[in-house]
Amino acid sequence: EICKGVNDLDKVVLRGLRGSSAEVYLYGGHVTSWKNNHDEELLFLSSKAIFKPPKAIRGGIPICFPQFGSHGNLEQHGFVRNRFWSIDRSPPPLTVSCNKAFVDLIFKPSEEDLKIWPYSYEFRLRITIGPGGDLMLTSRIKNTDGRPFSFTFAYRTYFSISDISKIFSEVRIEGLETLDYLDNLKSRERFTEQCDAITFESEVDRIYLETPTKIAILDHEKKQTFVLRKDGLPDAVVWNPWEKKAKSMMDFGDDEYKHMLCVEAAAIEKAITLKPGEEWKGRLYLSVVPSCYRSGQ
Ligand code: BG6
Repeated sequence: EICKGVNDLDKVVLRGLRGSSAEVYLYGGHVTSWKNNHDEELLFLSSKAIFKPPKAIRGGIPICFPQFGSHGNLEQHGFVRNRFWSIDRSPPPLTVSCNKAFVDLIFKPSEEDLKIWPYSYEFRLRITIGPGGDLMLTSRIKNTDGRPFSFTFAYRTYFSISDISKIFSEVRIEGLETLDYLDNLKSRERFTEQCDAITFESEVDRIYLETPTKIAILDHEKKQTFVLRKDGLPDAVVWNPWEKKAKSMMDFGDDEYKHMLCVEAAAIEKAITLKPGEEWKGRLYLSVVPSCYRSGQ
């Protein structure tokens, strides 16, 4: 179902079984909403989000490609998140099982885009709602150029959470313990995570390297856990701007940092290289389950 969203922009609404749904804007190929079977919004979307080029929509799942962050010559987080995508009416086959609602989008660089990054490619994105209300994003990037190219990538996912600023942090991440990370707040210096589980009390902007394929985001107050699974994406970014940075962002409310946490399936440390004709696939699977807490919590 295609309808008009904010600023008259086209959006696709996917409806799964038992009331689950997702909304995807063609602007950015950007998922802005994901609801589970209880009609509860699971993604954060800023009340100040600007749905207008050249700004990417603040919240949901922007796609960072062909460059994650500001390491490189391109604009921060690349440019596909602020370009218009199209519906792909004849995508190459990709396994589908029954009871799934999905949409296929495609992005191909324009003449103007080729001046910024001089390679041609086809970027196909399938967004699927599974029977249990799970959300899956599959990216397929095919090199249609005569030369190889390299890129970095992230599914920047803004999870909606109860309140990250509460003392005795009730929000934490499991699955990144003991891993090495690059700290974006310290010029990407490399550190090793020492904590049992990651909790929050200030700005965080880290790239965890070669992580397990499963990461959990536990929200004690909401009594729910997001489970993030990924394929083809070795790294994971964790980002929260916290109070000061939040105030400096024009498309983000001053207190909204409390209610969001970005945990991103990514390929950053080792860029992905595609030879002419080659295709890369990167998948993100999100589900939400009632929390099971360890004893004493
Ligand atoms: C982080 C950057 O990855 O993304 C921050 O390290 C930046 O500097 C943040 O503020 C958000 O980026 P953007 O482009 O979506 O405002």
